[in-house]
Amino acid sequence: MCGIVGAIAERNILAILIEGLKRLEYRGYDSAGVAVIDEAGRLERRRRSGKIAELDRTLSEEPLSGRLGIAHTRWATHGAPFERNAHPHFSGNELAVVHNGIIENHVQLREHLQGLGYLFTSDTDTEVIVHLLHHKLERTGDLTAALKEAIGELHGAYGLAVISTRQPDRLLAARSGSPLVIGLGHGENFLASDQLALRQVTDRFIYLEEGDIAEIRRDQVNIWDADGKPVQREAVQYHEGAEAADKGSYRHFMLKEIHEQPVVVQRTLEGRLADNHVLVQAFGPEAAELFAKVRNVQIVACGTSYHAGMVARYWLESLAGIPCQVEVASEFRYRKVVVQPDTLFVTISQSGETADTLAALRSAKALGYLASLTICNVGTSSLVRESDLRLLTQAGPEIGVASTKAFTTQLVALLLLTLALGQARSSLADGVEAALVAELRRLPTRLGEALAMDTTIEKVAEFFADKSHCLFLGRGTQYPVAMEGALKLKEISYIHAEAYPAGELKHGPLALVDADMPVVTVAPNNELLEKLKSNLQEVRARGGELIVFADGEAGIHNGLGTQLVKMPHIHDVLAPILYTVPLQLLSYHVAVLKGTDVDQPRNLAKSVTVE
Ligand code: AGP
Repeated sequence: MCGIVGAIAERNILAILIEGLKRLEYRGYDSAGVAVIDEAGRLERRRRSGKIAELDRTLSEEPLSGRLGIAHTRWATHGAPFERNAHPHFSGNELAVVHNGIIENHVQLREHLQGLGYLFTSDTDTEVIVHLLHHKLERTGDLTAALKEAIGELHGAYGLAVISTRQPDRLLAARSGSPLVIGLGHGENFLASDQLALRQVTDRFIYLEEGDIAEIRRDQVNIWDADGKPVQREAVQYHEGAEAADKGSYRHFMLKEIHEQPVVVQRTLEGRLADNHVLVQAFGPEAAELFAKVRNVQIVACGTSYHAGMVARYWLESLAGIPCQVEVASEFRYRKVVVQPDTLFVTISQSGETADTLAALRSAKALGYLASLTICNVGTSSLVRESDLRLLTQAGPEIGVASTKAFTTQLVALLLLTLALGQARSSLADGVEAALVAELRRLPTRLGEALAMDTTIEKVAEFFADKSHCLFLGRGTQYPVAMEGALKLKEISYIHAEAYPAGELKHGPLALVDADMPVVTVAPNNELLEKLKSNLQEVRARGGELIVFADGEAGIHNGLGTQLVKMPHIHDVLAPILYTVPLQLLSYHVAVLKGTDVDQPRNLAKSVTVE
């Protein structure tokens, strides 16, 4: 998704801007650009469609230098990914803007500004911002005052960075619906849409709040809140190691992140388990009292996080006896919802900035839910800040667009939530919590065993090299695991993959099965195993090729038309966490064989901060 970097210093800031963009590259983008005010006080820019490497090449041929600048990676929403639509956008060669988000009233603003004589050179919604600002600057003569006026006329979401030749002593920022963070240096300051972009230059950050405007100078930062009042925002020291943004010896971030799962699952458990029970306080000091009142759970999320929510529904209902509904955020936010009394509203998100999930949370606040809770990987994100309760997963930065370690840590957090709710409401069967806590402690070891099957799975992946379609089957909690497996395969290998609850096969999809349609199945040894085996027979009888990930004791055998991958034995409740791993590895190896861009698959973005 779009990325912003800005800097004001007493040195040439071009390399800082470009390095910042590179650090945001993993989020996905299709064009990039940079603008500086040069030594002669002129506003200059370079923009390119395609990768940052293209922009870099242009900069080596036509260099730029300056002490004040802004840069951007764009993921096209309004207007194709052409150079003329790339940011920064200019007005009158004296004002430059970069923008994340979407301006909803851009059509009306464009007409109004064209009426005032402004000429538009792009198809973007962003260009209205820069001309509107220019119009206000002409009137007020002051950039900060102009920005304050202009944002009052913008409807939609924005994270903005602004520079002008008229006042080259400041870098301006405004946030509404799109995150922005100020990086504090010594005699120099920075701005970005994600602190990751600035960790090369500082570890002290100020996170702008919704509605904030900031005037960033070399030696001073002034902030005004949504009501226009001057405010002090606390500076936060960042601690996590910068090495997280490094692939190490792995060929791709995705592979590195798959292999990090035993460690990050361990971290997600740390400090949250007592000898034989979950520490409910891990969800916040008020959690125990609040959880005791919960009679229903509504989960809302997108993509992989939604699949985690679907697994949690099985857990919440079967272990804690709590009715649970799960819905994708983009549907929930526009639906008229009937809220059951005492319902806990739960969002799940790796980034904490997914626009649909955030909008769902905001709309839920007016609907009478008991409280909101987020399971999130980014402690400083909007979802975390805007929820009543939170449990942070400890996956660390996830760079690969395909979510892997974020999913398994979300599942761990959701199982902790299930046990905490069951404990607070005294609805767990005797001994269940102690048994699952013991199993959770063993989970990192089991995950390590699943990862050790990497070479076997790499071999299985060869079977997919010439395939264009694939079915994934699972039953019970393994159905969402199959959905997640299918999502991984399609997003990084571009093979068309669909997941079905295995019992649904005979109601339609069986018609698709033939020798060219591999059927991937996850089959732990549980009470649905015999039913699942019958479903597999239905596939074999139609000449379908089976790839089965099954418990060694499942009684499924390798043979004609069936490739069996034996999984370590695991408690049925934790099986969805373990069985996810081979499916991640399978997608990864198929994508490598197909030669796709594994970490940045086409058309996708890491953090979807637009609707
Ligand atoms: C996962 O592989 C995806 N790229 C995508 O579905 C992702 O899970 C979704 O966009 C939600 O993101 P979030 O967890 O950051 O909210």
